[in-house]
Amino acid sequence: MPLDLAPVPEELRGLRIAVLVSGGIAAYKIVDLASALTQAGCEVRVAMTPSATRFVGPPSFQGVTGNPVLTGLWPVDGSPEPHVALGDWAQLIVVAPATANVIGRIATGRSDDIVTAIVLAARCPVVVAPAMNDAMWSKRAVQENVEALRDRGVSIVEPESGHLASGHVGAGRLAAASQLLKAMVEAVQSRYDLAGRRVVVTAGGTREPIDPVRFISNYSSGKMGFALAAAAADRGAHVTLVTTASHPAHRGVDVHPVETAQEMLDALGEQLKGADVLVMAAAVGDFRPARTATKKIRREETPRFTLELEPIPDILASIRSDKELAGVFRVGFAAEDSELDAKAVEKMKRKGLHAIVANDISRRDIGFGSDDNAGVMLFADGSRHELEKMTKREMADRILDLVLPKLSGEKGAES
Ligand SMILES: Cc1cc2nc3c(=O)[nH]c(=O)nc-3n(C[C@H](O)[C@H](O)[C@H](O)COP(=O)(O)O)c2cc1C
Repeated sequence: MPLDLAPVPEELRGLRIAVLVSGGIAAYKIVDLASALTQAGCEVRVAMTPSATRFVGPPSFQGVTGNPVLTGLWPVDGSPEPHVALGDWAQLIVVAPATANVIGRIATGRSDDIVTAIVLAARCPVVVAPAMNDAMWSKRAVQENVEALRDRGVSIVEPESGHLASGHVGAGRLAAASQLLKAMVEAVQSRYDLAGRRVVVTAGGTREPIDPVRFISNYSSGKMGFALAAAAADRGAHVTLVTTASHPAHRGVDVHPVETAQEMLDALGEQLKGADVLVMAAAVGDFRPARTATKKIRREETPRFTLELEPIPDILASIRSDKELAGVFRVGFAAEDSELDAKAVEKMKRKGLHAIVANDISRRDIGFGSDDNAGVMLFADGSRHELEKMTKREMADRILDLVLPKLSGEKGAES
């Protein structure tokens, strides 16, 4: 039964795809699939259950993908936990063929082999393509397991009816490759809704030096900006993070460390070219020392010390005239302790933003340094969205959900 390997859709090209193979007759068809995906420019890594290796030898998959094949839980390539590494790495997981057994094990949260352990450690969409004898497929136990996976957001590619390896005719044959590829594209599109977009995020409080060992800054932890960068990257965007804060880097985020407002401005000038979205989550200082001492100011030599401050030019106002900013959807943040809406709207207008997220810094349970946040998101078109208390990562996704419909079909902001 030849695979109708339709051309691999554009949407899958370049993705990191984990192909997980379990022990069914249809395993041989997946060699063709892995080969086609690899040839289309995907990076493909394969893991197999011990049973699957009885049907197809790992060297076949290694040959077509150019990557070693995982067949057990224990490290072979230096990675201390191969299932976690692959779960982290993958942007899409396909379990095909999925046996009745592996579906049951995934449904009950088992992780006693490399395939189920990878599914459990996954952070990306999972597509499961069952293939088995028709009697097995029709059993309530199998159907309930499939339903449980569907309920949890796993995409199931229904098997076809037709001639089965057992000699019977009925439902259970692995879906055609075109159906599998279609399900993969749908899974990718629902998750990677920012694919092809360039998102620039700023994070942290700017640091303005007084002398080589001291600076003026603020309480911004940078956590909101890091959450935004991580969320945008997980949704397929090309992300640049210009930050004064340092937290563990998220896969796919291009980090540009800076210290001062001027350095942030310079970095943005570089990074904004071709951007679709700019999210200014950094807390840029209002004042900086008028002069920076080149040597450490010593208490013994300086009995009284007066620090003269000068205003920091507004970053957005400084780049607003730049034609590079045209077409960039600009989101700012406002930390306010009263009259949230009015002050945020005024700031949005003054800075030429398309939207602003206002946080209430008088609340002690959210904001600076906290893992949670709450506030309101206001758009220049007058729409208003309450952001109830949630984790910063959840809020980051909510902000991106609200921004996404405002972006034009091709690139940049709707005018
Ligand atoms: C020749 C042969 C063919 C099999 N084909 C299938 C199949 O197509 N689908 C299925 O669910 N199980 C099939 N099985 C049973 C599975 O291989 C068995 O349940 C095994 O434990 C699956 O292990 P795994 O899910 O860890 O890969 C087959 C077994 C044999 C011996």
